[in-house]
Amino acid sequence: MSAAPRCDQTEAWAALKGHFVAHGRDFDVRDAFARDPGRFAALGVQAPLVYADLSKNLVDTATVHFLLDLARECRLEERRDAMLAGAPVNVTEGRPVLHTALRAPRGQGAHSDDVHGVLDALLGYAEGVRDVARSGFTDIVNIGIGGSDLGPQMVVPALDAYVHRGLRFHFVSNVDGHDISAVLRGLDARSTLFIVASKTFTTQETMANAMAARAWFDAEMARLGAAAGPAGHARHFVGVTTNLKAAAEFGITTTFGFWDWVGGRYSLWSAIGLPIAIAIGSDNFRALLAGAHAMDRHFAEAPLAQNLPVLLGLIDVWYRNFHAFTSRSVAPYHQGLKRLPAYLQQLEMESNGKRVDLEGVTLPFGTSPVVWGEPGTNGQHAYFQMLHQGTDVIPVEFIAVRTPTHGLADQHRKLLANCLAQSQALMLGKSSDAAAAERAPTASTTIDRDVLARHRTFPGNRPSTTLVLDTLTPQALGALIAMYEHRVFTSGALWGINSFDQWGVELGKALCSELLPRLASGDTSGLDASTAGLLKMLAT
Ligand code: F6P
Repeated sequence: MSAAPRCDQTEAWAALKGHFVAHGRDFDVRDAFARDPGRFAALGVQAPLVYADLSKNLVDTATVHFLLDLARECRLEERRDAMLAGAPVNVTEGRPVLHTALRAPRGQGAHSDDVHGVLDALLGYAEGVRDVARSGFTDIVNIGIGGSDLGPQMVVPALDAYVHRGLRFHFVSNVDGHDISAVLRGLDARSTLFIVASKTFTTQETMANAMAARAWFDAEMARLGAAAGPAGHARHFVGVTTNLKAAAEFGITTTFGFWDWVGGRYSLWSAIGLPIAIAIGSDNFRALLAGAHAMDRHFAEAPLAQNLPVLLGLIDVWYRNFHAFTSRSVAPYHQGLKRLPAYLQQLEMESNGKRVDLEGVTLPFGTSPVVWGEPGTNGQHAYFQMLHQGTDVIPVEFIAVRTPTHGLADQHRKLLANCLAQSQALMLGKSSDAAAAERAPTASTTIDRDVLARHRTFPGNRPSTTLVLDTLTPQALGALIAMYEHRVFTSGALWGINSFDQWGVELGKALCSELLPRLASGDTSGLDASTAGLLKMLAT
């Protein structure tokens, strides 16, 4: 495949620049709704299990038209097909990117025999653990970090309604010993299963925590007069890794493998999903995969103009490179999705936080926005003030789930009313006149009326997307996560970057290895003055 043009080297990019100056910069979404009664329907997209209302975004049909031209000129479909076909699109590591193969039905995707062989074994093992009367396990501790932690840590609470009630799940990631100490404190070694999850099985944090867990396990078993040793390790420790040799050297005898064509942040569908499979069972885990596969088909087959991940990725480019918005806030109105913003931070910022193109040429435009957020309604009582009245425009992504899995219907209505109210308020704002006409019971009685009105004015025209799921089922969650993956692919492809490497974490790791012995010895020779000064303060 000859190199596809980078977004800024296309005619569509120039056309978008002109469109932005003429119509984009001063676009008012309130006027757009007034002009076009069909706007909501025209900018609604139904993808498998996920509906998206794009109509509160700062786009009109012309914007979408130019953005689709951009996608075509950047040969997005060709790039997508290359990824799906297993071409080595992760060029700096010379690897294909095939997380979609992990959720393809048996016999349909690449490496199907390998994928389904491991999946069958993994789910069989998970079912064994779930049979708590036989397995004797009550607590599952996942030890991993980044992609070997965030996916399971996000999915298990999200699917709480499906989680085995006889099992408790714990996630240890930080090399900070406070993390594992707090988890171990409440556990009984005899009924605890440790999953050591690491693609490489070399990650400092995970190895340190795994060793701490093993030492604690040995000590506890000795204290309790129970058998530890190799047999205990074999029963109570399971590995998930591409590095089977290192897992064996650690003393782990049960290991589920995966492959170097699965990126860490795209790995919850692989054996890294073991805590999820234990939590929700094999049928539900397969449903999670099926939902993701349905979104994969949509991404692969839907025309660009109705392709949800593509449209979201295009709007991301529009906001980042034309409006110059630097961040996006994610507000899931579902407490189960409390870790989704953290999960998306890794997915998007580790994938697209790049400053050179595929040829290594420095980019003259911005790439990944900062992705951040909290579940609603909590965020409303924290940072939403800034979203409504701050000086920066931050697009917000609301996620609403129509049917809860609890019986508190009235509370659910309150939750959804809040969700709708926030996107409405961001868009509509409040004029100074409207503010002046209101009573403000908590306002100072001495403040000038006009000054107060200016404090109480909302500019409005602040964009948002609302994603709607019917119920947060395993299938719907799978589709939602896959949608985000493909959206990240879309913006990354247009920017002409490699969304699948992460060299940015290397330098800190190397410097850490160099500083570690100095923290014990106190040696500051050759260090910059700041690092030397701090090291002296912290050395123990
Ligand atoms: O932070 C870098 C990174 O390589 C992530 O991409 C990855 O998810 C994480 O570390 C954990 O790596 P591993 O699974 O090899 O322990």
